[in-house]
Amino acid sequence: MQIFHHIESVRNAIAQARADGKKVGFVPTMGNLHAAHLELVETAQKHCDFVVCSIFVNRLQFGLNEDWDKYPRTFEQDAEKLRAVNCDMLFFPDEQEIYPNGMDEQTRVIVPTMANVLCGASRPGHFEGVTTVVTKLFNIVQPDVAVFGIKDYQQLAIIRRMVADLCMPVHIIAGEIVRESDGLAMSSRNGFITEQERPQANQLNKSLNWVKNEILAGSREYPQLEAEARQQIENAGFKPDYLSICQSATLEPAAHDDTELTVLGAMYTQGARLIDNVSLALKPMNEVN
Ligand code: PAJ
Repeated sequence: MQIFHHIESVRNAIAQARADGKKVGFVPTMGNLHAAHLELVETAQKHCDFVVCSIFVNRLQFGLNEDWDKYPRTFEQDAEKLRAVNCDMLFFPDEQEIYPNGMDEQTRVIVPTMANVLCGASRPGHFEGVTTVVTKLFNIVQPDVAVFGIKDYQQLAIIRRMVADLCMPVHIIAGEIVRESDGLAMSSRNGFITEQERPQANQLNKSLNWVKNEILAGSREYPQLEAEARQQIENAGFKPDYLSICQSATLEPAAHDDTELTVLGAMYTQGARLIDNVSLALKPMNEVN
């Protein structure tokens, strides 16, 4: 696996891969890689001949009081894991390489509306940081295909919108959510969950599935379901951030006749903020007998 720190080296090596007729796939990450990240690399490999992974803990997408400084940095182990799955290239830039003029002077990419709800409401500026860095990474790597996990459902939806709105020539592929055996979605932040909290930390997933099953069983009392699910999370000892039943495509609050739904949630443990989501499809009203 080639490892590069500089944009120019990445460009040169990718130009060579393209000259060899290879289709380029890309998996952007912030490192501390786990099984879910590696599955994204394997998904990219199914669609492409040359796969690039990036590791960059992007300060622009962290709020001032968030965990940028304590975000886990495990480069050597990450590189080893990527080698083991035969990733072709690892791009590991420093902040100077990505933001040579500083973050304040950086041109921004903003996706309106969708970026301001759910996680965007609790983390102002977060998605602007994501779309800006992903645009830069896309321009550096110029991939044919990029893979993002459904675990960050809102991020995926925003990136799809950005790619469509800005006519970016990249095909976005979604990777299924990879979970621990008790349902907890894998995350680099799971290391911040305390031992005492860990047995209950799958409560977010349990409550999202409870809402999904209530809807599938016929309930359309969305605000009540949301409130009840938040209460379940509190009863398990966590602080709910949001829990919302949304239209899958727009992330607007779901109406009773919407058929493609995603239930998204976030909750705080003592040391981490965790997110998760589940999707469901209902039969259109006029098909129900
Ligand atoms: P990071 O949190 O490292 O995630 C990198 C990719 O892995 C994202 O596409 C995320 O959705 C996916 N992922 C993480 N955990 C997952 C899980 N349990 N199941 C499926 N996919 C999972 O997301 C980011 O980094 C950053 O915002 C980034 C896009 C790299 C921009 O800085």
